[in-house]
Amino acid sequence: MNAAELTQAFQQVFPEASPPIFCYAPGRVNLIGEHIDYNGMPVLPMTMDRRIAVAFSARSDALIRLVNADPTFPPATFDNLPDIPPSQKGAWENYGKAAIQGINQYFDIQPGKGIDLLVTSDIPIAAGLSSSSGLIVATALAYLHVLGKTLGGDIERIELAQCLAQAERYAGAHGGGMDQAIILLGAKDTALKIDFFPLRIEPVPLPLGYCLVVCNSLVKAEKTGAARHRYNEGPLIGKILTALVQKHLQSEWDEDIEINRLGDLWLGHLCLTHQEVQELFEAVFTCDQTTVDEIAEALQIKPARLQQEWLADIPSPPDGLSLKSKARHQRTEFHRVEMARDACEAQDGAALGRLMVESHRSCADDYGVSCPELDRLVELALEAGAVGARLTGAGFGGCTINLVPETEVDHFQQTMTQNYYRDFLNTEPPAHAILRVKPCAAADYS
Ligand code: GLA
Repeated sequence: MNAAELTQAFQQVFPEASPPIFCYAPGRVNLIGEHIDYNGMPVLPMTMDRRIAVAFSARSDALIRLVNADPTFPPATFDNLPDIPPSQKGAWENYGKAAIQGINQYFDIQPGKGIDLLVTSDIPIAAGLSSSSGLIVATALAYLHVLGKTLGGDIERIELAQCLAQAERYAGAHGGGMDQAIILLGAKDTALKIDFFPLRIEPVPLPLGYCLVVCNSLVKAEKTGAARHRYNEGPLIGKILTALVQKHLQSEWDEDIEINRLGDLWLGHLCLTHQEVQELFEAVFTCDQTTVDEIAEALQIKPARLQQEWLADIPSPPDGLSLKSKARHQRTEFHRVEMARDACEAQDGAALGRLMVESHRSCADDYGVSCPELDRLVELALEAGAVGARLTGAGFGGCTINLVPETEVDHFQQTMTQNYYRDFLNTEPPAHAILRVKPCAAADYS
């Protein structure tokens, strides 16, 4: 929708409201660095030229009214209270509530102001392209405006990204900070290497002569829905890996070593090399599967306490958790992000492509966040001329990102349409199942 259409739609939905103001937030594609941000390791995403656009205006009371132009998402109204109760799990308005509550807490505002918001989006939903974080960011920008707070004045983009990464947990998934950071700090024509704790960014050029193409597996991956438990397993396992490594180092070195997150091994005061971390992991994670009893013994706590406090809602599989391969994914994916950044700097598309494929295999085989459809999409993409292909985002469905030579891109699109959608899924691809994407400006007002 352009500004005139959005204004008209807004006035239809909220006829009594004052003329709207607009803000938007792009979707994101992660090029490489999957499921490692929450352990404090770097990632390499970019914004994409699809976005959430919000028309909004202030109200004179403390009511928040959220309407989505897509009728699949029912309208929601709630009071801007100091403690906003969440709607049922999976409800879209929880992202709006998360943003309002997050900003209220950041500025210590109570009670907050009211706002009417109309949300439109052309980011595919539940496809791993961060439409949910886009919604949080856009709602936060709208609310900041209503509060008279300026981005870059009252709150820096980097602070807002950190505040909203924390705020998004309200909706149930315990994500890292990648999505909010790229949506607020990304830029046209460039990817970003993002580091965490503290959040910092480094622009990374994309290799010339290649297109980035997103292919939707059409398997829905709702981070607030069924995929939430599977997603939340990642950060919990990260905590266990960290604790086990810390215990091992303490007993080896007979010193009181503190590691807050796995990434501290490389980036904290220990400053280990990739080789040293590999040797360390080989010493700590000796078996393919580790049972809850074995973990509890190593950490010197009771199995029941481990299950209750650490594993929360992860059912403990009888044959144990595959800590060894999960740790391997963390280690190798971190290294791949650094090599991918170097490949981009060297304009070496073929090297970036190889790293993307390795990353996909690691996500699938070592970390267990792929699915048969994503694996098939990657295989077919490589046959259809892509030099790199991998799942992007949380996985469990959603999309792949493909690095395709410009000269091959039409052929790639036709071949994927036939081989994946028609032959493998036995369906006609819906509009926008295959998208050529480019990095665009970060979230802002317009
Ligand atoms: C989701 C989370 C991110 C990140 C990815 C996986 O998008 O929001 O923080 O963990 O999954 O890389």
